[in-house]
This record gives sequence, structure tokens and C-alpha cells, in this order.
Amino acid sequence: MQERQPSRTALGAAAHRAAHQRHVGGRIFHDPFAHVVLGADADRIISELAGDPAARSLQLFIAARSRFAEDCFAAAVERGVRQAVVLGAGLDTMSLRQPHGGVGLRIYEVDHPATQQWKRNRLAEAGLTAPTTVTFVAVDFEKDDLGSTLAMAGLRSDAPAFFTWLGVVPYLHREAVIGTLRTIASIPNSEVVFDYTEPLENYDGIARARLSAVAERTAAIGEPWLTFFDPAEVEELLHGLGFGHQEDLGLAQIDIRYLGVRPEASRKRPGPHVLHALRRQTSHGG
Ligand SMILES: C[S@@+](CC[C@H](N)C(=O)[O-])C[C@H]1O[C@@H](n2cnc3c(N)ncnc32)[C@H](O)[C@@H]1O
Repeated sequence: MQERQPSRTALGAAAHRAAHQRHVGGRIFHDPFAHVVLGADADRIISELAGDPAARSLQLFIAARSRFAEDCFAAAVERGVRQAVVLGAGLDTMSLRQPHGGVGLRIYEVDHPATQQWKRNRLAEAGLTAPTTVTFVAVDFEKDDLGSTLAMAGLRSDAPAFFTWLGVVPYLHREAVIGTLRTIASIPNSEVVFDYTEPLENYDGIARARLSAVAERTAAIGEPWLTFFDPAEVEELLHGLGFGHQEDLGLAQIDIRYLGVRPEASRKRPGPHVLHALRRQTSHGG
């Protein structure tokens, strides 16, 4: 990502969530702040998406990954987790919506310093205030020590924590992805929801052309896709880090779970994935 420039892809992801509210009434993911965080240009930004042939499928996926993350988060809160970390938050609005207000949750919003400052300015301009239970933590995943920075901000490393990390993995070098997962794994009973993209060579025909076009666009605005994973590779990586529970949703599972497609009618195909991994601490600390 370019130094000192706020992330343009953060604006793009937020625009897709806002379009999802406008076009299908937030059918998969309801976000009453999605429009307002886009600022005064919201309508223009949303209408610009209409010209993109990949917009519909991207929009569905972006809505589904947020929904999945927040469903997993709700289950974690139910199990007693009281710390959440939104990694690479962009214009994500979970901390504004506070879906589990009143249970004593602390939320840490982590982002690249330039993007985080830009978001905070946007919130102020929109007259929105993050609750006092939200702590903003500026981190560059490529350069900074995430674990110690979060600890300094107040995250307890002796209590379970839930991490979401949406739309970020492709933009990082592989070492930064693995380093971040290691930090998450170092917290007892930690869990994470993140998404990743399969290598372009897994796709064929129109799907590959569309994905290449999206990748070229993000590269042209200074945010190239750097890291892709095969599902088996992710599974092995997480397993090696001690994440015993994993649920990986590809496009076919998303169709079934969120679009009501019957299992026998769903079609397995390469695409983005969203995954939940949970690392249970055993009594002997493993
Ligand atoms: C596509 S946006 C996704 C934002 C948000 N999670 C969402 O789903 O709308 C990518 C986010 O990753 C962040 N990011 C990319 N590279 C980063 C880095 N090296 N350190 C910290 N954040 C980074 C950007 O600032 C941006 O907020």
C-alpha cells in the first residue's frame, strides 16, 4: 500500500456494502451506517459500481464475509469472549453498531495509520462518534509488531480474543500474513475470520478475466494483490499454528447458506473464501 495515502480499496469495500443495502435491502448483511460512512459523495460512489461487470458477485461476497464474521463473533460473545479486534478495519462499522453492547466488550480497530486517520476524520465529519469502548490502534502489518502494539493498547493476552480480518490478506506479503496469524495464535482460545483468494490460475474463462481486471484495478491504485492461497494450503498453515477448528466457505457454501441455493443445485467453483478458525487452548497449554 502507498505510504500516507488512505486505502482506496477500503472505500470500495464500503461502497459495496452500501450498494448491498440500497439494491437488496441488506438481505445478507444489514448495515445502517454503510451509506453515511461514504460521506457526501455516497450516491456517486455507489452508482459508479454499476459499470463494473464483477460488481454483483463482489458485492455478494463482501456482504457474505461480513455476515459470516459477525455471526461467528456473536457465537464467540455467547461463549464469553469479551475482546474483539477488527484488523484492517477500513470503513467497517461494527464498532459503531456495537451489536453486543452492554456485555462489557472491548473492541480494537486496527488499520494502517493513514487509513485510520482518514476514517476518524470521516466519522467526525458525519457527526458519528465511536463508543468509548473502542480503541483505535495504528499498525502497519508489514512493519510493526502487532502483538506488542495491541498489548500496549490494552488487549489482554491472557483472555480469549476474536479477530476479524476482512479484505486484507491479498494486499499483504505472505510473511506479514503468517506473522499476523502467529500473533493471533499466541492468544489463548483466539479465533479469527478472514478471507483469501485462490490463485488466478485456478479460475478459467470469464471468471479469470473478471478477477484479473479487479486485480489490475487495485494494482493501478497502488494496492496490488500480493498473496493468494489454495484452500488446502490455508488449512495446513492454520493447522500448523494450532487452529483445530476451521470452517472455510467457498462460493458454493455461500450460495447455500446465504442465498438459499439447494445443496444439490450449488456449484463448486474457484473464488474467494471466508474462513473461521478457532484455536482452543488445552489444559497443558498447547
Ligand atoms: C479492502 S480494504 C478492507 C477494509 C475492511 N476490512 C472492509 O472489509 O471493508 C483493505 C484494508 O486493509 C488495510 N491494509 C492494507 N495493507 C495494510 C498494512 N500493511 N497494514 C495495515 N493495514 C493495511 C487498508 O488500510 C484497508 O483498511
